Amino acid sequence: MNMMPKHSADATTVEEGLAIQEEQSKFDSAAATEVAMQNTLLTPRFYTTDFDELDAIDVSGVRRDWDGLISEMEADPNKGHFKKNEDWDRVDWDGMEPELKKEFIDFLISSCTAEFSGCVLYKEMKRRGKNGDIVQLFQLMARDEARHAGFINDALREAGVAVNLGFLTQKKKYTYFRPKFIYYATYLSEKIGYARYITIFRHLQAHPEHRFHPIFKWFEEWCGDEFRHGEAFALLMKTDPKLTSGVNVFWIKFFLTAVYATMYVRDHQRPAFHKALGVDPDWYAHEVFTKTSKLSEQIFPITLDIEHPRWQRTLEALQRANVAIAEGKRDGGLAGRWRQAINSLKAAGCFAALYTIPSVKHRVPESTRLEPVY
Ligand SMILES: [Fe+2]
Ligand SMILES: [Fe+2]
Repeated sequence: MNMMPKHSADATTVEEGLAIQEEQSKFDSAAATEVAMQNTLLTPRFYTTDFDELDAIDVSGVRRDWDGLISEMEADPNKGHFKKNEDWDRVDWDGMEPELKKEFIDFLISSCTAEFSGCVLYKEMKRRGKNGDIVQLFQLMARDEARHAGFINDALREAGVAVNLGFLTQKKKYTYFRPKFIYYATYLSEKIGYARYITIFRHLQAHPEHRFHPIFKWFEEWCGDEFRHGEAFALLMKTDPKLTSGVNVFWIKFFLTAVYATMYVRDHQRPAFHKALGVDPDWYAHEVFTKTSKLSEQIFPITLDIEHPRWQRTLEALQRANVAIAEGKRDGGLAGRWRQAINSLKAAGCFAALYTIPSVKHRVPESTRLEPVY
C-alpha cells in the first residue's frame, strides 16, 4: 500500500488540494505570510462578491461553447503536472545573488497570493451556488488554482519560506466587488496571467541560459489553465450584452488601464529578477499588453492604445512617482509624508492621463472562443 501523502498536484477537488496544503502548513513561515497579508494598490487582494447574482447567470445562450470548455476542463490535462519531478533542477538558494533572491522570493509570494486569491473566490462561489453550470465551472477553476498555489509554495519551501494559506483565508481582508467588476478584473487577470507566463516561457525556450529556476519549465501547461479560466469569464460576459456595452465600456477601460499600469509598476520594482531572466521589463510589458489586448478583443469592444506617444511616457512617470512614494514612506517624518502626498497626486494624474488616451474601437466577433496561440 502506498502510504506517501498525496500531492496537491494530484488532488481532483479544491477541498482535497487545500487539505494537503493545510497538512504542510506547520512548515510555513511568518515572514512570507506577512508579505502575503499586505493590502496595497500593488499587492494581490482577496475578493468577495454578490454570489447570488453570479449564481443566477443563465449560460444557455452560449451552451455549445460552454459545454466544450467544461469538457476540456473535466478532462483535466494538467492533473499531476504541478509537482517536482526529474526536470526540477537543484536550486542553489545560498549561492543566489542576494538582490535576486529577495526579488524572486517576493515574486513567488506575490504569485502564490494571486493564485490563492482566485482559489478562494472560486471556491466560495462553488460552495454557495445552486446553479449546476456555475457550480461546476467554479469547482474546476478552484481545483486548478489550489494546485498552482500549492506548487509555488513547494518552490518557496526550498528557500525556507512558505505562505500559510489557511491563515490567509481567515485573516486577509476581503475586498467587495460587484459581479460585473469581478468579471472584468478576473477575466483580465486570467488573460494577462496567460500572456505573462507564456511570454517568459517562450523567451526562456530561446534563452535557456537565463532559466535560473526550474519553476519556469512548468509555465507552458500552467498558462493553459489560466487561458481556459479566461475563456470561462469571456463566456459569462457573453451571456449579457449589457456587460460589454454602454457605460460599462468606461468601466472596461478603467480595468484595462488599472491592470496594465499595476503590472508595469510592480514589475519595475524587480530589476534584478528581470536582469537574471534576460528580459527588459519595458519590452516585457509591451509584449504582454499586446498579447492581452489581442485576446481581449474576443469580448471587449475597445483596447487601450499602447502605441500612443503618451502611453509609455506616462507609465514611466507613474513608475517614478511610485518610487518616490516608497522613499517618502521609508524616510518618514514631515518631509517624507509631504513627498508621499505630492507623489500620490502625481500618480493619480498619471492614471488620469493614461485613462484619457483615446481607446481603439473594434467589432467583437460573433464567436467568442479562442485557442492559445502564443
Ligand atoms: Fe492560476
Ligand atoms: Fe486562473
